[in-house]
Amino acid sequence: MTRKTLLGGTSAAIIAVLAAGVGLADIRTGGELVINGEIPIVTETAAPEHLAGALNTIYSGWVFRTDETRAMQADDFDNPGMLYVEQGIEAFNTAMGTEGNSCASCHENPESLAGVRATYPQWDEAHGEVQTVEMQVIECQTERMGVAEPYGYDSQQMRNMVALIASVGRGQTVNVAMDGPAAEAWELGREIYYTQYGQMELSCAQCHENNYGNLIRADHLSQGQVNGFPTYRLKNANIVSIHNRFRGCIRDTRGEPYAIGSPEFVALELYVASRGNGLTVEGPAVRN
Ligand code: HEC
Ligand code: HEC
Repeated sequence: MTRKTLLGGTSAAIIAVLAAGVGLADIRTGGELVINGEIPIVTETAAPEHLAGALNTIYSGWVFRTDETRAMQADDFDNPGMLYVEQGIEAFNTAMGTEGNSCASCHENPESLAGVRATYPQWDEAHGEVQTVEMQVIECQTERMGVAEPYGYDSQQMRNMVALIASVGRGQTVNVAMDGPAAEAWELGREIYYTQYGQMELSCAQCHENNYGNLIRADHLSQGQVNGFPTYRLKNANIVSIHNRFRGCIRDTRGEPYAIGSPEFVALELYVASRGNGLTVEGPAVRN
């Protein structure tokens, strides 16, 4: 086995074990996740066609976690992320804005939005742009409810609402469209994914495509999938958004991240989501 050190002296301590072409011995496949005994989750499946040559199999981040962390996600009573979903339900039924509407005035119940998480980011014809779930929520608040100060993109209230929308979509197969009008953003996202960032000159792919299964700072690298978002992170004791995670990963390379909600991160989210086409929605997932 040859280990190629990617990094020179100073940063070697940070990623001593990152190596190209190492066998993927640490992936504990074969585990089964069925949430509440009734929602089967696809944690491992054939990679979508566009990843031919890069990945054969795609894995949920769940696969790379310890038994304890895995177990927390199997039952809503043990999943701390569900507390935020509860708060999302409350907000969903609360009137806001000058029109006196709640989300429920138009969407009846959260379950009516069950198909959303699996198909976003998504091209929005009226706005001529790819929209994330967060952007869609802000659109309803500002354009349909008369809310003067919509939820901040990465605010607690937004994360609660997005967690609610994910939770009702659990078990649905991720299937984001990357063709047609979304193709341009998808290409941008792909370019960003393979660009090396920061002093450490590391791309998303170097960690999440070439080294998944390997240890990095005592943490098992996953494929960096987004099907579990918003994820409850044990480290933060809170739910975190996709863009927040992207930002953290770029910061870890000592790079300058794009802004949360920026067109670059929206494009990156679309591309990363498409790498998970075939997995199932599991937000709020539980992660380190
Ligand atoms: C006045 C009616 C109205 C209210 C109130 C409203 N929405 Fe919407 N919402 C809509 C309409 C109409 C659409 C479809 C718009 C489109 O297709 O672009 C929509 C679309 C959505 C979608 C995307 C659905 C899909 O299948 O793509 C989400 C998610 C959403 N709304 C969330 C919310 C949330 C969360 C709230 C409360 C903060 C809310 N909406 C309040 C009317 C409303
Ligand atoms: C230096 C290595 C490294 C780089 C480069 C890196 N990440 Fe990560 N990333 C990690 C580690 C470590 C974790 C936590 C363990 C895990 O889930 O992989 C993580 C977690 C994630 C997760 C959460 C996965 C889940 O299941 O919750 C996503 C999404 C992600 N990264 C996306 C990205 C994207 C997109 C890029 C490029 C902008 C990137 N990462 C760059 C190391 C890296």
